[in-house]
Amino acid sequence: MPLVKTSKLITIERHISEEHALHPQATGEFSRLLRDLTLALRILARDVRRAGLNDVLGLTDETNVHGERVKRLDIHANDVIIRAMDHGGHLCVMASEESDALIQIPDEYSKGKYVLVFDPLDGSSNIDVNVSIGTIFSVYRRLDPTLTTGGNVEDCLQPGYKQVAAGYAMYGSSTQLVYSSGNGVDVFTFDPTIGEFLLTFEKIRIPRKGKIYSVNSGNAYKWHQGVRDYVAHLLRPSDDGLRPYSLRYVGTMVADVHRTLHYGGIFMYPADSMLPSGKLRLVYEVNPMAFIIEQAGGMASNGTQRILELEPESLHQRSPCFMGSPDDVREVESFINSSPE
Ligand code: AHG
Ligand code: MN
Ligand code: MN
Repeated sequence: MPLVKTSKLITIERHISEEHALHPQATGEFSRLLRDLTLALRILARDVRRAGLNDVLGLTDETNVHGERVKRLDIHANDVIIRAMDHGGHLCVMASEESDALIQIPDEYSKGKYVLVFDPLDGSSNIDVNVSIGTIFSVYRRLDPTLTTGGNVEDCLQPGYKQVAAGYAMYGSSTQLVYSSGNGVDVFTFDPTIGEFLLTFEKIRIPRKGKIYSVNSGNAYKWHQGVRDYVAHLLRPSDDGLRPYSLRYVGTMVADVHRTLHYGGIFMYPADSMLPSGKLRLVYEVNPMAFIIEQAGGMASNGTQRILELEPESLHQRSPCFMGSPDDVREVESFINSSPE
């Protein structure tokens, strides 16, 4: 089992301050940033649970920068995170899937040295049918730490390997927070009776190879030949019993990657003839999830390059992604690289 369950009773705040002690130069600003973020996630955990009762389900009349109909819970989650994070003095700028432009820190609040980019509600298509959804976040240091003014778009367009921390909350049968600040991946489970995230798994390690692949097969007719050949390979029974793989696809990236992290295998959102860069957004979906997967010993690729080395050019740009067990990601890369197109 790749998980190391822990018997220690530790809240996320205690865990973060213990990690903070590992970095004596840290000022505590980062710990306070995460404290404020976990407050937002606690509020969202409550609101998602009550979504059906609080009448925050359903669509707004709006369409976002991606041309997608915006759900009311998307907007609500975006507002909760912004309001929880904009006044703590640890951020210089934010960016969100649900905000076309940068989110500046209001003039009346001091600016800090960190940057927060996030997908406030991942898996929106699953909100109204009670299927797991999540929140994805990623933290960078600002490019010029001597500045005390608001940040800019370059601060948000750093390559993924510069992430200081990343993680996601998954609002499923329980609410779990999966998080890494570069020291491995830890899982916290929310206990609503005491309002705390408690450490439940430490230093998750993804299996080297899995038996599950996760992709929207409805797009197969649009995939490049290498991806089609790879999936056909997974479905051909092998003498060693390692194939065929099973298909599991929730349609919420957080849920599909969370399962891949625990069980191994591969999660893919390939480019196709309609979406030449795939569907998922590099800055606040693919990069943070790639950071988590790599911190757990996995791999994350766009098919030819390591995701975390990609240089983002715009806030909402998309990237193909193949992430999960290292042997599985290497195998899909070999099919892509040996394909004629
Ligand atoms: P979001 O709800 O933030 O827009 O993200 C939805 C994404 C991601 O969660 C998931 O992996 C993917 O959309 C599913 O897309 P398809 O429905 O095209 O498979
Ligand atoms: Mn998303
Ligand atoms: Mn979203």
